[in-house]
Amino acid sequence: MEHWIPVCTIDDIAVLGSRRISRAKGLDIAVFRNDRDEVFALLDRCPHKGGPLSQGIVFGTSVACPLHNWTIDLEGGCAKAPDEGCTPKFSVKVTGSVVHLDTSELATLALDLTRPRAGPVASTGAVGDQTFEVQAPHTA
Ligand code: FES
Repeated sequence: MEHWIPVCTIDDIAVLGSRRISRAKGLDIAVFRNDRDEVFALLDRCPHKGGPLSQGIVFGTSVACPLHNWTIDLEGGCAKAPDEGCTPKFSVKVTGSVVHLDTSELATLALDLTRPRAGPVASTGAVGDQTFEVQAPHTA
């Protein structure tokens, strides 16, 4: 059963941009708006190496990941060939100008996925951030 919760208005999302929606558990959701005012929602995690899709460039019904430029389909969450992999997709309902997400999906979907432990999206750098790893220097 679907229970919709309002998360923002369509005008809160930049055209060809996105807005991040945080939730009690799990990674944020990226809510995208294209130039036809269509709205899509994906986990804010690229299926390649976990890049923040919310910071990508929207075109048509796709977003280009900001890290390595994979193209992710906003309708299904999957990478376009020849790349492979999908990120979880969330249901969206727009009523008037209000964007809604499904509360049960927010509470249950993709709670096991985390950010990578290395790379540019791995850490906030904050003291005590357990995801931060220091790479050992190369030795000759
Ligand atoms: S992390 Fe998105 S293309 Fe590599």
